[in-house]
Amino acid sequence: MRSPVPDYLADVLDAVRSIDDGAPADYIEVLAKADTSRLAVALATVDGEVYTAGDSDVAFSIQSISKPFAYAAAIEDVGLDAVLARIGVEPSGDAFNELSLEDGTHRPMNPMINAGALATHALVAGPDASGPQRVERLRALMSAMAGRELGYDEAVYEAELRDAHRNRGLAHMLRAGGIIHAEPETIVDGYVRQCAVNVTVRDLALMAATLANAGVQPLTGRQVIDRAGVRQVLSVMTTCGMYDAAGDWVSNVGIPAKSGVAGGIIGALPGQLGLAVFSPKLDAHGNSARGVAVCERLSRDMGLHMM
Ligand code: DON
Repeated sequence: MRSPVPDYLADVLDAVRSIDDGAPADYIEVLAKADTSRLAVALATVDGEVYTAGDSDVAFSIQSISKPFAYAAAIEDVGLDAVLARIGVEPSGDAFNELSLEDGTHRPMNPMINAGALATHALVAGPDASGPQRVERLRALMSAMAGRELGYDEAVYEAELRDAHRNRGLAHMLRAGGIIHAEPETIVDGYVRQCAVNVTVRDLALMAATLANAGVQPLTGRQVIDRAGVRQVLSVMTTCGMYDAAGDWVSNVGIPAKSGVAGGIIGALPGQLGLAVFSPKLDAHGNSARGVAVCERLSRDMGLHMM
């Protein structure tokens, strides 16, 4: 029997397979050795249909794609005002690993850059939470969104923690500026764990579809994030999710999105669907080169642009 959507998705992957630009992230040893031939896509509709093509069962570390989910958790756990007091919502125009503090407030510019994500991590599970409580809150939330229990890529966690000098530097600056109060080392450890959660494109498409579905997981029907938090998360993904390529992305693809250095990208189109792509080679902005091409093609073919 013909399956029109998976066949179409397989054709889209074939169309971008010849793109050989970019390189896998090299500052995390395990990611530098990734199999760069991997390519996968998944779509999940808000009514629970899931379609996949390519290496859709291959797991990879979620990396920065965890940042919107951590932001949602922080908003739920301490309230939006407390989050906004410590982390801004403006694009930084700088690379994801720069300090990028706002003049005057000394807040990290937004929760999608590393400085903002470290500050966000520190708010998860409330002011009295321990390191393990923050980590488990995030693993459990991301699992509820994926609809299955997620685990960690321990090799990625260990490799990243070993060389996390920039993130340690950022966390110490945040502590010195009074943005975080916990021990910087504990925050970096928890944040690196958050980034090492292992996912497939199917998991990510369902997580994105949960955002698109106002916080209700399409398969389980559970309200896993509060609706008001979802609006805030999708807004910040739109302006800051693709770093300094955000303008090109919004023009060409036109949906709230987030990328990660392992080569994943998610997109969430409110009321319609979540999508996820995976291919390890990154472009100059740190976004998956083939992944961006897949999303541009899907947006054009399926009319996904929000405008
Ligand atoms: O903190 C880091 O550098 C990584 N754990 C995550 C960075 C990331 O995914 C940036 N995304 N494109």
